[in-house]
Amino acid sequence: MTESLLQLKHLSFAFPDKLVLKDLNYDLKRGEFLSIVGENGVGKTTLMRLILQELKPTSGTLRFIPNRQAVPVGYVPQFRNIDAEYPLSIQDFVGLNFAKIGVPWLTSKERQRVNKILAETKLFDIRRRPLGQASGGEKQKAYLAQSLLDKPSLLILDESTASLDPVAKTELLDLVKQINQEQQLTVIFVTHDIPLARHYADHYLFLTPGQYEAGNISELTNEKVGEMNDA
Ligand SMILES: Nc1ncnc2c1ncn2[C@@H]1O[C@H](COP(=O)(O)OP(=O)(O)OP(=O)(O)O)[C@@H](O)[C@H]1O
Ligand SMILES: [Mg+2]
Repeated sequence: MTESLLQLKHLSFAFPDKLVLKDLNYDLKRGEFLSIVGENGVGKTTLMRLILQELKPTSGTLRFIPNRQAVPVGYVPQFRNIDAEYPLSIQDFVGLNFAKIGVPWLTSKERQRVNKILAETKLFDIRRRPLGQASGGEKQKAYLAQSLLDKPSLLILDESTASLDPVAKTELLDLVKQINQEQQLTVIFVTHDIPLARHYADHYLFLTPGQYEAGNISELTNEKVGEMNDA
């Protein structure tokens, strides 16, 4: 695990009225499982938005190796409840990004890819169930499956497990860890759950206002993070 995937150098970001990230340096390696922790409002999602290129650094650089095009990024958002009337089945939702204007059906190759991902995420047996009627854990798995469809090199989980029960959390993260280990998927896991971070990640980045600390996950303790360990 020595090859860099993403290098942050002297990265700073400010909204018009607020400096959020200051002189952040981090070298994310291919295959790394990085956990990002820090109190509410410290800038974790802002950093994810910079990585997703929805925001531009105020100063400093953010460089994908070898380049952005070569590093597809998948993103699993924080749990949002989906309307019970949401019409798409789990399999159609997962394949949504394959849908082309005027050609709503999938080619057989695309269908195969969707089926493979559904099997990997253990959603195959319930693939015809309307997403709106799936459980919270199943919905998050469907988001994960959708984000894996484009074969990302980097997967971002931004508090994606925060509102799941312990069993659903473990299931989702076991799956991500398996893909991380088998396919060298690089993972950024934003969480407030320190024990969970310690269990799955190999490195941490702890953001505090205007500062940060990074290291091996074994050095991340509840004492260090203070009281912010309830997910
Ligand atoms: N579009 C925006 N304009 C101005 N300020 C913003 C904007 N988006 C976020 N902020 C502010 O920037 C700071 C960082 O927000 P961010 O969402 O990155 O925090 P976070 O670490 O993800 O917090 P949480 O743990 O609550 O998700 C917060 O003070 C927030 O209010
Ligand atoms: Mg956030």
